[in-house]
Amino acid sequence: MQALKHSRDSRNAALDVAVVGATGAVGQTLLNCFEERDFPIARLVPLASSRSVGQSVRFRGAEIAVTEATPESFEGVDLAFFAATGSLSKSLAPEAVARGAVVIDKSGTWRMNDRVPLVVPEINPAALDDHQGIIACPNCTTIGVVMAIEPVRRAAGLERLVITTLQAVSGAGLPGMEELEHQNRAWTDGKPPSVSTFAAPIAHNVVPVCGDFSHVPGTDGPYSSEELKLRDESRKILALPDLDVSMTCVRVPVEVGHSASVLIETRRPLSAAEARRAIGAFPGVRLIDDPQQAPTPRAVAGSDDVWVGRVREDLSGSRIWLWEVSDNLRKGAATNAVQIAEQLMQRGLLEAAVWADRDRL
Ligand SMILES: NC(=O)c1ccc[n+]([C@@H]2O[C@H](COP(=O)([O-])OP(=O)(O)OC[C@H]3O[C@@H](n4cnc5c(N)ncnc54)[C@H](OP(=O)(O)O)[C@@H]3O)[C@@H](O)[C@H]2O)c1
Repeated sequence: MQALKHSRDSRNAALDVAVVGATGAVGQTLLNCFEERDFPIARLVPLASSRSVGQSVRFRGAEIAVTEATPESFEGVDLAFFAATGSLSKSLAPEAVARGAVVIDKSGTWRMNDRVPLVVPEINPAALDDHQGIIACPNCTTIGVVMAIEPVRRAAGLERLVITTLQAVSGAGLPGMEELEHQNRAWTDGKPPSVSTFAAPIAHNVVPVCGDFSHVPGTDGPYSSEELKLRDESRKILALPDLDVSMTCVRVPVEVGHSASVLIETRRPLSAAEARRAIGAFPGVRLIDDPQQAPTPRAVAGSDDVWVGRVREDLSGSRIWLWEVSDNLRKGAATNAVQIAEQLMQRGLLEAAVWADRDRL
């Protein structure tokens, strides 16, 4: 396939930007992030399914009609954010790339592809330099966790992680938020809950199942898709393919904000005071330094930062505990995606002509 040449100077020019899934939870948050960060957009192309044709999205004071996402939607588009379904990213992202767009994908489809960088800009921005047109944004849970542990890794290396997540219903998009709302209403009305998005009623409950189960070879038990994403994506972002990661992912009746309890076994000894210093100095991370205080999803929702508290030494020694909370729709999705785009622009990587051979992806 012929390589496309771009002549745009992405460091200065305003861009033609498509958002696939513009009517969804992440898509809507992306539009807010563009406005807040004054992202340079000349033309916004909001895309969704045929169900949304006739709707519009509000952007910079104007109503812009939503159209159905098709291969032709990407003609003339410089940058395409995908925030819809995995299967749509699989079929349409290469079409966008073939038409000269760079794709930043929020789905799980491309994350573990060897030719696709998986990027958290504060941690591994240099991975962008080799992109082939598609850049993957990690899972919302993974981003918060790796942001919290990266400063500890830089200070003392990593040997092992033991993670329990408590994930908000908006991690499953607008349907997840609606399900919690309906079930809360049914609870108040004394009616039985109707369950479709989650594995069990989520209102007034805690459900230790996030996503579908699959069997891990060499083990006797299945792991959920969120658990395997957390392990595999953390290893890729941190470039530690053999990192020992143990994980349990739990859905909780919180609207926005994923939390995680993380036990970190470091390579070299690290005191809690040293860990706190490293975490507090890391960009994009806010440390709550008082060990008796902790960030909560309610307090953190709406923030672009990852919040860390309860940093303490494990009672058995040589390990650090921390508690991390981040807004899954912002740093866990939209903010990270826009930061990737900003990095691409700063690095002059939107006009690189190396990615158009879509047969390789
Ligand atoms: N929610 C999070 O915290 C989070 C975090 C990280 C990553 N992600 C990922 O981001 C993506 C979007 O998630 P979300 O939470 O925003 O979901 P959502 O609220 O359910 O929104 C889904 C969006 O995708 C669109 N869509 C669905 N099927 C489509 C199709 N066949 N053609 C075109 N558009 C289609 C929907 O359009 P209609 O309105 O027309 O149906 C809607 O705009 C998913 O891949 C998800 O895994 C989500």
